[in-house]
Amino acid sequence: MRVANLAGMDTWDAICARRNVRQYQQERLSAADLHRIVEAGWRAPSAKNRQPWDFVIVTDPTQLSELSTVWRGAGHIAGAAAAIVLVVPVPPDERRLVTDNYDIGQATMAMMIAATDVGIGTGHSSVGDQGKARAILGVPDDHLVAFMLGLGYPADRALLPIRKPNRRPFNEVVHVDRW
Ligand SMILES: Cc1cc2nc3c(=O)[nH]c(=O)nc-3n(C[C@H](O)[C@H](O)[C@H](O)COP(=O)(O)O)c2cc1C
Repeated sequence: MRVANLAGMDTWDAICARRNVRQYQQERLSAADLHRIVEAGWRAPSAKNRQPWDFVIVTDPTQLSELSTVWRGAGHIAGAAAAIVLVVPVPPDERRLVTDNYDIGQATMAMMIAATDVGIGTGHSSVGDQGKARAILGVPDDHLVAFMLGLGYPADRALLPIRKPNRRPFNEVVHVDRW
């Protein structure tokens, strides 16, 4: 059974249209769209339902500009209409590091799909300078500023399903029954 998507595009189309968008229109995002995107992350599954994440929504251009300097691959955050910053407690051990990373990956993807659904582009960024990122956002030292997601209407091209994504061959990736 297909679940009708009442908001925008078909779920499958949103999955196929999502791509990293790093050039954004200046248009602001509505509070309702931002809320829905973050709610998608809030609804994401997590190991033991631990929900290790906190999400910081940033729309202030000065802060976005500052955040764009915390990692060499964060330049696009400066021109974003908003950013969602994913914060987790400093993991106490290796196991928690793995599950927290898995969890925030799921939350990230849910937010990216929800954004694509309403025509909003998203672009990941890692975080290098923890001290600077914490200072910009007021995050305490016992938390990691794990990743950032830039958001905005795409300035390059619309979000349409990508026919030939830049991916390893499907049959090389997918194994049936055995490796
Ligand atoms: C864990 C992770 C970290 C990433 N870090 C960055 C980054 O710092 N800067 C950036 O521009 N893109 C970053 N990306 C985006 C990837 O480069 C991108 O997802 C990949 O090239 C596939 O392209 P697509 O998302 O357009 O399909 C990151 C993606 C992931 C999953």
